This record gives sequence, structure tokens and C-alpha cells, in this order.
Amino acid sequence: MRPLDPPKRLLLGPGPSMVAPRVYQAMSKPVVGYLDPYCFQVIEEIQAGLRNVFGTKNELTIPISGTGSAGMETAVANFAEPGEKFAVFVNGFFSERINEMARRQGAQIVRLEKPWGEIFDDAEAREFIQRERPRVVAYVQAETSTGAFQPGKAICEAAHEADALVIADCVTSLGGMPVEVDATGIDIAYSCSQKCLSCPPGLSPVTVSPRAWKRLESRTTPVQSWYLDLKLLEAYYKGHKYHHTVPISMLYALHEGLSLVEEEGLEKRWERHRRNHLALVAALEKMGLAMHVAQGRRLWTLNTPRVPHGIDDMNIRKRLLDGHGIEILGGFGPLAGKVFRIGLMGSSSTEENVALLADALGKALAAERSQAARS
Ligand SMILES: Cc1ncc(COP(=O)(O)O)c(C=O)c1O
Repeated sequence: MRPLDPPKRLLLGPGPSMVAPRVYQAMSKPVVGYLDPYCFQVIEEIQAGLRNVFGTKNELTIPISGTGSAGMETAVANFAEPGEKFAVFVNGFFSERINEMARRQGAQIVRLEKPWGEIFDDAEAREFIQRERPRVVAYVQAETSTGAFQPGKAICEAAHEADALVIADCVTSLGGMPVEVDATGIDIAYSCSQKCLSCPPGLSPVTVSPRAWKRLESRTTPVQSWYLDLKLLEAYYKGHKYHHTVPISMLYALHEGLSLVEEEGLEKRWERHRRNHLALVAALEKMGLAMHVAQGRRLWTLNTPRVPHGIDDMNIRKRLLDGHGIEILGGFGPLAGKVFRIGLMGSSSTEENVALLADALGKALAAERSQAARS
């Protein structure tokens, strides 16, 4: 085998984002066993750091071993029950994935749909929940396929009035913009390590409210997934009983990523993401690109400018990657070929990266246009 020699990339796509150098250093520290007191010390500090970024006091706040989809599956597998009503707000790719996971759990799915890039207003969210009276409601707070932010307060209030639990996907918001689990009323939230927390992919932070834990304790059917069964996981994280061999080097990474958040200050970090998002939008609009998502509903972490008429987004992405080492991605599903997806997350969200991307994208668009004019 040849020695590893990954190409130098500037990761400005929908994730993974750039890994902080201190995180790489943390990952090279010696491995300890999963029952070592040091391992539990690291886990406890991670739990405190996660409570801070999630904005919660939830005791059950843990890093699930696996990527963001493992967090999603933990939320769905533990709280969707066969035959019970599971409501999904569907306005993008990842809410469709939640739907699919709940379907596989045998839940009775009910959906409220919107075109990709739009969000649900308070009145329609409430009306849907009051009409359906589901046991669980799920929505995507930060929809990476569209760039839209879905507020959750009205959803959570209506759900709680109907005695339903609320699951929120915070994969593209955690550490980059306010998630506010407790203030919003979210019962189960999950995220990932590879976006705004500046770590590699591999862990999925999950938090569970006391109300949701009570529901779990009264559950009559076994959770179908052994690996993601929260009661079994709690016996490890709280009771220190073996469940599975936790990926300690990834825990070191997350610990360092959360230390970076603490040192920067969470609110300052949000402000950095907001500022760089606004600077990017201004630069894109100056280039003549329109944003897909309406102002005030946009993520600060993932930007979706529309692909200009007559331009093939694949060609632009290839020019950025081959000519500048910059990764951005395009849209998919109904947005295929219609938007670029540009991430400014964690360590990737810098003024310098905004300027680099704007310059490279401007050149790539100009080169494409002059090539089209010649042929
Ligand atoms: C909103 C959202 N949910 C879930 C996921 C799934 O995460 P992963 O690809 O880390 O499994 C992603 C991945 O980008 C995402 O953006």
C-alpha cells in the first residue's frame, strides 16, 4: 500500500468542515480503555460542554458513536413505536430521512410538506399538530439540503399540549448558531462532530429531556436497535457498565472541539458565524447571485445561492476544486443543478475563507461564461 497523502483541501461544503489543528493533536494522544477512570473523566467534561452548546440542563446528554445519522436513528428508534403516530415536518432531504427511519420502525407517519427552502409558520405548525395529535413530532432545525432554519417554539408548544415529544435535527446548527434546546422546548436533539464543532466525522451528540426519558421508561415494546438503545447506553455513560468500546480518539477530538468553543465563548462563536455568513451573502449578491432562502430564514452555517442561468454547477465545482483546492457542493433532489451549497462552519467560518471563496467563485463563473461565449 502507498503511504497516505490526502490532497490539501479547503472544506467549504456542507460538511465535513476544516478540522482544527488542536483537534488533530488531541486525536494522537494515547488510547485508554473504555472503563478507565480517565475515559469517564473525558466523557463527563464532554457532557458538560455539550450541555453548553445545546443550551440544556438535560442529564442524558451523550456522544453517540457514529455520524449524524446515528444520532437521528437513536432519536427515532427510541421514541417511534410501531403503530403510533409520528409526525414529520418535511421540507428537505433530511426530514425525508427521518420519515424513512420512522417508517422502518413501523410508526404511522403523518406529514406536513413544504417546498425545499421554505419553512413552516407557527399557525400551520400548530394546526397540523392539533389535527393529528401524534405521539412524536420531528423537524429539522438546520436543513443542510436547503439552507433554511426552522424555528421550533410553536412546534414544541403545540406538541406538548398534545402530549407529544419533539425531535429536532441540529446537525448543521450545533456550535454555529443558537440551538436553545431548553428554551425552545425540544425533547430530543442530535447533531454531529464534523460541522460546527471542527472535528472529523464519527460522533453524534444527543440530548434527551426528562419528559422524554419518562416516556422511554414507560415504553412497552423493546427498542429495535440494541446498539442505539438509550437505556443500555445510559448504563454505560452513567452506570459505567460495558456496552460497547467507545471510540476514545474521537472522544479526545470532541473534547478538544468543545474546549475551543468554551475558549471562544459560545455567543461570540455564533456571532462569528453570523458575521461571515452576512459577508458571504453580500459578496455573492455583488456577483449577481440570488439566495435561494428568504432573508431572515437563512442558516449562518450553510449558504445556498442559486446557480446563475446557463451555468452548469458541476463545472464550477470542478474549477474550484482543481484550480483552488476548494470544496463546495451542489443541490440535490428538487434543487439539483439549481443551488450551490457553501458551508461556513466551525474552523471554516473565517473572513479569509469568505474572501478566498468569493474570489475563486467569481473567477470560475467568469471563465465558464467566456468559455460558453466562445463555443
Ligand atoms: C441536517 C442533517 N441531518 C442529518 C445528517 C446526517 O449526518 P451524517 O452524514 O453525519 O450521518 C446530515 C448530514 O449532513 C445533515 O446535514
